Amino acid sequence: MKIGVPKETAEGERRVALVPDAVRSLLGKDDGIAIAVESGAGDAAGYPDVQYEEAGASVGSRSDALAGDVVLSVAVPSTAGIAELKSGQVLITHLSPWTAAETNNALAAAGVTAFAMEAIPRTTRAQAMDALSSQATAAGYAAALIASRESGRFWGMLTTAAGTIRPAKVLVLGAGVAGLQAIATAKRLGAIVTGFDIRRAAWEQIASLGGRPLELDFIPDAEDEGGYARPLTEEENEQVRQALAENAARQDVIITTAAIPGRAAPILITADAVANMAPGSVIVDLAAETGGNCELTEAGKTVDSGGVRIVGPTNLPSAMAGHASQLYAKNLENLLGLMIGEDGSLELDFEDDIIDAACIAHDGEVRGERTAK
Ligand SMILES: NC(=O)c1ccc[n+]([C@@H]2O[C@H](COP(=O)([O-])OP(=O)(O)OC[C@H]3O[C@@H](n4cnc5c(N)ncnc54)[C@H](O)[C@@H]3O)[C@@H](O)[C@H]2O)c1
Repeated sequence: MKIGVPKETAEGERRVALVPDAVRSLLGKDDGIAIAVESGAGDAAGYPDVQYEEAGASVGSRSDALAGDVVLSVAVPSTAGIAELKSGQVLITHLSPWTAAETNNALAAAGVTAFAMEAIPRTTRAQAMDALSSQATAAGYAAALIASRESGRFWGMLTTAAGTIRPAKVLVLGAGVAGLQAIATAKRLGAIVTGFDIRRAAWEQIASLGGRPLELDFIPDAEDEGGYARPLTEEENEQVRQALAENAARQDVIITTAAIPGRAAPILITADAVANMAPGSVIVDLAAETGGNCELTEAGKTVDSGGVRIVGPTNLPSAMAGHASQLYAKNLENLLGLMIGEDGSLELDFEDDIIDAACIAHDGEVRGERTAK
């Protein structure tokens, strides 16, 4: 099996699909495996060519990396990126498969067998391949650091000769993987942290990290059979927004991460709620790319509303490129482990539930019930 790692081309993308340690580990699995990395692919994440060579990869041109039986990438490919692939090749990357119909259709039309990292099932067996979780961990951590820098204040309590500083009050909305990491990071910085989620199971997790769960128990538990949140009704949403508006006014910082897979982000903080926050407060909205959890969020921008700064970062995992790449590479390595057959050849077993669920294009067809067509 020849594996290729081209340099990412999406604007602002600093991550790389394989880090040198993962190269070493994959090559150690079978002599029949070879890895070609495009020169400079790991530079922005802190992994220079020489480290890939030391790990046993061949470092060469883009076309060398694109000649692999399997091409590994991070970002959703552009039309031009899909045109670089050949029929029969396997591509493993993020694909936004539930919403990007054009990408799915173009990959199928190109005869590419495409695996979407977002479509890896959230099962115990697939946990080590779960890039949504590994990258959300990076995003949650980065969000807390950005919020702390933007707030221009100490987060922990300080007693100094020049007076006492009270700890920052931080509210985290949505306590999935990213939210829980934001809570843990804010706690480590010394803040008083409150967390909220519409899934009751998350309340215990918030508390286990030292956060105070905001128990809005007038909303019934909104966890569906798959473990995700169901969308709230408009009436429920309005009740939540009102309760959060009262709470928001008491916070120095709000970090929002609420999401429903494949849908626009729910609005949790209205413009009126922002107007009641103290000047100098900060909102960091991790849902900026899917519409935002705050009504005033603009993706990729920082908006100032009456002295409240609303930051709408995009691609936060890329801000943590070194470690986000390390975790992502491990996810890929584990997934590839299911595809390595005899003598290191590529073998796709569609009877395997992970292969079946993650493959969204094969033999010229778009696959999977939830995949956008
Ligand atoms: N392998 C596994 O078993 C595995 C791995 C990762 C996550 N999970 C589970 O999957 C679920 C979702 O995780 P995720 O981080 O990918 O979620 P996500 O990124 O899709 O959503 C983030 C959070 O937003 C919450 N949310 C949605 N609407 C909201 C609203 N109106 N108000 C407040 N919060 C709202 C969700 O409940 C979720 O916790 C969790 O139950 C998690 O424990 C399981």
